[in-house]
Amino acid sequence: MRLGILVSGRGSNLEAVLDAIASGQLQAVEAVLVIANRPGIRALEVAARRGVPWRLLASSDFESGEARDGAIGRALAESACDVALLAGYDQVLRPPYFAAFGGRTINIHPSLLPRHGGQGMVGLAVHAAVLAAGERETGVTIHDVTPVLDAGPAIVQVRLLVVPGESAGDLAERVLEVEHRALVAVLGQLSASMTAAPPAPIRARR
Ligand code: GAR
Repeated sequence: MRLGILVSGRGSNLEAVLDAIASGQLQAVEAVLVIANRPGIRALEVAARRGVPWRLLASSDFESGEARDGAIGRALAESACDVALLAGYDQVLRPPYFAAFGGRTINIHPSLLPRHGGQGMVGLAVHAAVLAAGERETGVTIHDVTPVLDAGPAIVQVRLLVVPGESAGDLAERVLEVEHRALVAVLGQLSASMTAAPPAPIRARR
């Protein structure tokens, strides 16, 4: 399964995926391209250090967000990606992306969608919203991406209890550890379903 990964920041989910590929846990996955929407981020250092090809496609280099998103989709298609993973990617993908890239796009989100998703709900802001809402549980959602933000069908949700009095940072740390494991598990399942051997041909009896 040829995987493209879109990133905007720290890149710990990217790193977890690359670690799992390197250790043989994701034998049927190849990370073929990392795309960032901003320069100077740690995720690009992670990609460069691991020798994964990367590209920076920032909105400031394009005449519109639509043009940039079309370029992201074309870059994934040119690299023959089967799946694109949004791993801490912090912008909405507009329709030209979906027109240019026909593969599957999945996103990891640090809450139990549809709770605490949508515009501005990225990283620590999500955990702060979970605590502000007095939620007793939160979790991780990995879902298919559609043009409607955070609304695509869930592939998996993992739940965990909120600890009374914990900070958004502490909660983020606990959720992140679950994210890394869930992401590797889902990519393993997706790659297995894509690389499954076709059924043996049925021969007619003579
Ligand atoms: C992760 O917690 C990820 O789930 C979240 O941003 C963080 C990125 O961390 N994504 C979203 O909030 C998407 N709406 P990372 O860069 O270390 O992987």
